[in-house]
Order: sequence, then C-alpha cells, then structure tokens
Amino acid sequence: MKAVEVIGGYPLNGEIKIQGSKNGILPVLAACILQKGVCILHNCPDIRDVRETLAILRELGVKCEMIKHTITIDTTGIQAKAIEKEKTEKMRSSLLFLGALLARFGEGFLGKAGGCNIGKRPIDMHMEAFQKMGILIEEQENAIAAKGRLKGADITLRIPSVGATENIMIAAALAEGVTVIYNAAREPEIIELANFLKKMGAEIYGEGSAAIIISGVKKLHGVEYNIMPDRIVAGTYLLGAVATRGKIRLHQVNHEHLGAVKVILKQMGAVIQEMPDGIYVNGEAAWRTVEKVKTEPYPGFPTDLQSVLLSTLTVAKGESCLYENIFENRYRTVAELRKMGADISVEDNILRIRGVDALYGCEVQGQELRGFAALVIAGLAAEGRTRIENKDYVERGYENIVRDLLGLGAKII
Ligand code: UD1
Repeated sequence: MKAVEVIGGYPLNGEIKIQGSKNGILPVLAACILQKGVCILHNCPDIRDVRETLAILRELGVKCEMIKHTITIDTTGIQAKAIEKEKTEKMRSSLLFLGALLARFGEGFLGKAGGCNIGKRPIDMHMEAFQKMGILIEEQENAIAAKGRLKGADITLRIPSVGATENIMIAAALAEGVTVIYNAAREPEIIELANFLKKMGAEIYGEGSAAIIISGVKKLHGVEYNIMPDRIVAGTYLLGAVATRGKIRLHQVNHEHLGAVKVILKQMGAVIQEMPDGIYVNGEAAWRTVEKVKTEPYPGFPTDLQSVLLSTLTVAKGESCLYENIFENRYRTVAELRKMGADISVEDNILRIRGVDALYGCEVQGQELRGFAALVIAGLAAEGRTRIENKDYVERGYENIVRDLLGLGAKII
C-alpha cells in the first residue's frame, strides 16, 4: 500500500505552477467523441482519472496519445457504443459518455458509474433529462442501456448538478432543435465545456448563468484546446499555506475561480495578492476562525475543499462551524483528524471545530480523493511525523502532490 509521510511544523514557502483541471478535462474528453476527427488538448493533468478516461476512449476504438501534458484524440475509427462496468466504475464522470454516445450514435450502453464514496450520488436528473429529450432508458442492475433520437427540450434541474448540466450540454450539442437547461450549474467547468463545444462548432448561450440555451447543430469538428487550471488543487495549497502560516505564490491559476476561497482566507487573516496569471498568499497571521461557512454550488465555497478547510480550521484559534450542503457523507476525514488531536463534532451536516494548539503526527487512512489531500495538509501543520495511507486516492486528481509540496518547502518522505 502506498503512503505519504510528512514531517510537520514547517511553514509552506515557495512558488509552483498549478496543473490543468481534473473536473475541466473529464467532460471535454467525453465530448471529443461528438466529432469525427482529431482533437488536441494542451495543459492536461497527468492524473489517474484522465488515464482511466483515455482507457474508456480506447475501448470505444478511439486512438489516444498523451505526451507530457498534451493529449491527441483521433475518433475516426470509433466503433463501439458500449462501455463495461470495469471501466465506468472507476469514476463518476464516466456517466458523461452516455450523453456523448447518444449524441454521436443515437444509442449507448454504460456500466454503473463509480466515484468517491461521499454520499448516495443518484443519477435521476441525468436520466429524466434524456427521457425528456426523447431517449428510451433501460436501467439494469449494474448498467444503463439508452436509445433514441435526441430532440431539444426544456429541462429544469431539481438541483444545479454539475454532472447533469454537462451531460445535457453534450447531448444537446448535436440534438435536433433547442434545449434550455434551467437551474443549470454555474461552475467554471461548465463554462470550460461550453467554450470547448463552441470551438468545435456548437451553438451555446448563457453558460455561467442559471439558464443555458443549446441550439443543436448537425456536425461538430476537431479542435486544439487549452485546459484551464485546477481551482481545487490551487485552493488546497492556499489553505495549506494558511494552515502552516506560510507564504506561497501559485502560477497558472485563475484567481477569479477562487472567489469564495479568497473570502475565507481573508477572514482567517491571510493577505492575498492577485497576479495576472496567479495568486500570492501570506498566511503568517492567519490564525482566526470562520464563524460559519457553507459548501454550496458555485460561486459558493466548493464541497471539494470542505475537508481541506476542515484541516486548516482545526489549528485556528477558536470555534468554527462548517456546513456540508452538497454531499451527505463527506465527513470520513473527521475520524482521522481526531486521531491527530483535532477537536471536531459532527451533527447532521454541521461540523463544529474547536481549534487546538497543536495537531500530533500519527498514522492515518486517506478515505477519498480530497480527504487524502486534507490529511496531508493536516500533517504539514502537525507536530512530528504523519503517515497517510491509501495514496491511490489522491493520484486520481492531484498530478503529484508530493512534488508540489516539496516545491513549496514541505518536508515529505
Ligand atoms: C461534480 C464534480 C465533483 C464535485 C461536485 C459538486 C466532476 C467530475 N466532479 O460532481 O468533484 O464535488 O460536482 O461540485 O466534475 N444529484 C442528484 N441527482 C442527480 C445528480 C446529482 O440528486 O442526478 C445530487 C448529488 O447527489 C449531490 C448534488 O446533486 O448532492 C450535486 O452533485 P453534482 O453537482 O451532480 O456532482 P457531480 O457532477 O457528481
């Protein structure tokens, strides 16, 4: 079993570049099969979820090649319309291939989607939307078979789901007629997908707002595209600087994507400077708590940084309150932080954190992707040595968390 060992007690100090976005590239990779030809993607993160998605594309008969951070995808030979469970269960985003297969072939077969164990994660909104667009869906025990000719429709989402918004956008790009998504997700990754689809020739309006209009076109074409920076990876290190009272400069960051994170960093006492391509944070005096913070759909504070913020608040001076409003089971890191001496209580979806003078290094178990990163941050802030088991989780989304933190002056074995 792979692990990371952190020697705590050293403030982060230094500067690094931030990788391309995991949640940005995954929908783009699925959308590549909407066209027959070649797409070239730059600034791709070299992470496991990307490699697993390339394996899905290869299963469909697509030629893919990743050299450094550039991926070339040639869909000319695409044949298969089915993706088996062994591949889909590796990640949640495999579900986006259903919209893509339906748009390209009018049918698709997909094994059950996987992903981190952070809650029930139903797919009802994806299915209802496709049904409204004229698709016949057969939900089997561990798979979905879908068939039909996609027609534009008015779709109102019960929750502004990122995945459902993306799946509908991908399907609607080649559907007959106009699709309107109401209560659509507004995350930067939605704008990223819209930009990519539009570059391929799609007609999309309103992305980034709560209503997205997609006017289906007959054909899309190959493009060259640059993937946006990863705002969650950037947020992880910014919070790490605050947790260790350090000073860091991150390059290749879009600080506009970090609005809610910047608010929290400032509340804690950090000094922030925005740069054209990045961000600087000085966390030397950032010891204050935040009275109340809620995870919310964008532009609110991201659920993907909830556990990392939790680690940071365990060593702030005073009591903080963190509400998890997106996923109902995203508290598995709490027990591990308690082993390190953190004082956290959980009641329903509310985490109450009473800051302690010090965390103490010990052996902890990573429980999911972001939770692992949170434990690494806690280890940096702790006294002594922390061993975090289950490194596999973090490799799904962080290209090389050890390299990055070493670049920021951390002591990691
Ligand atoms: C995406 C991100 C993930 C992030 C999440 C919320 C990717 C690859 N993953 O996940 O990192 O944590 O957004 O920002 O981009 N829901 C339903 N029915 C549905 C779909 C969703 O009830 O059909 C619920 C979910 O259970 C959850 C909420 O809606 O409570 C938001 O989920 P959603 O935005 O869909 O998350 P993902 O797209 O899976």
